[in-house]
Amino acid sequence: MQPIRLTSRGCDIPQEPAVLRLFRDQFHAHHYIRLPSLVEPGALDWLAREVERGTFYEREHEGIATESCLKPNRAFDLLHFLVNNRRVFDFVEAVTGCERIGSFNGRIFRLAAGLGHYDSWHDDIDGNRLVALSLNLSPQPYRGGILQLRRKEDEASRLDIPNPRFGDAVLFCLSDELEHRVTNVEGPVPRTTFAGWFRKQPTYGWYLQDSASDTQGGKPQPVLRPLAEDTPASSGVDEGVISPQARLVLADGAAYQDTGHGVVLFSPLTGHGEGLDTVGSRAWTLLMESGTLDAVEWVMADEYDVEPSVLQRDLLRLASHWRRHGIIQVAGQ
Ligand SMILES: [Fe+2]
Repeated sequence: MQPIRLTSRGCDIPQEPAVLRLFRDQFHAHHYIRLPSLVEPGALDWLAREVERGTFYEREHEGIATESCLKPNRAFDLLHFLVNNRRVFDFVEAVTGCERIGSFNGRIFRLAAGLGHYDSWHDDIDGNRLVALSLNLSPQPYRGGILQLRRKEDEASRLDIPNPRFGDAVLFCLSDELEHRVTNVEGPVPRTTFAGWFRKQPTYGWYLQDSASDTQGGKPQPVLRPLAEDTPASSGVDEGVISPQARLVLADGAAYQDTGHGVVLFSPLTGHGEGLDTVGSRAWTLLMESGTLDAVEWVMADEYDVEPSVLQRDLLRLASHWRRHGIIQVAGQ
């Protein structure tokens, strides 16, 4: 049973009340649930490559733990984009019964044998953290490094929660009555993890443009933003003229989600994120469905009161903007 999956197109979440009830009952009985294959395979492989390219530094956590922590990079950014999704928050709230979640904040870290890394019993409670998530980012199997959860100072209640599979996650309870730790890693393979907390504050929100002017009676006006506020893109993104017939796809590593108020886009390659207004969201959705600007134009020309030449020009400019910022690419390039 697949409870939830994070993908570059948003997240897949079970809708059946019976499935949600089952996870909720498991969480309340055991204080944790497993989220197998939380991240889709393509994104997971991309993340693993970016983690390998990253820089780790030794981090001491106030006498509780020492670890190698990854300096924020593209993998860090993409994971935060994927998890900070209102639909993910709704799922976690429904399963755990926690207060309303405002955001998720985590870190990528490694525990390795021979480097003095350790973790002690602690509760992570600070008045703001609600629920913890631990995602296995170790492509190779490691030994030790087992998450343990117990009632405070009650060894008889201890649960060992191994999570050996790359891409699997554990969602576990934070409470004044519970504490957790991770056992020492043994052997040559380090344990790499993305872990953090769903929290009350701050409230996460993608900047969504004011869509109040999108419709002015009758058919919506063909205003595709943003174009004027364009900023230079980072290097490594392909440039050039886009043909209306070219097949356009989501760029490697890029992701988007529909917030219910519009689509938000993010490219960890350039660090560029943007929220789309109603018309931009429609153009984006059609592009992801059809793959070419020609096909988008064909549909939008019928939906919007617009000169064909203006619509074609705006779509080309918008697609160029997205490509320049590492959001889309021409298929095969
Ligand atoms: Fe912790």
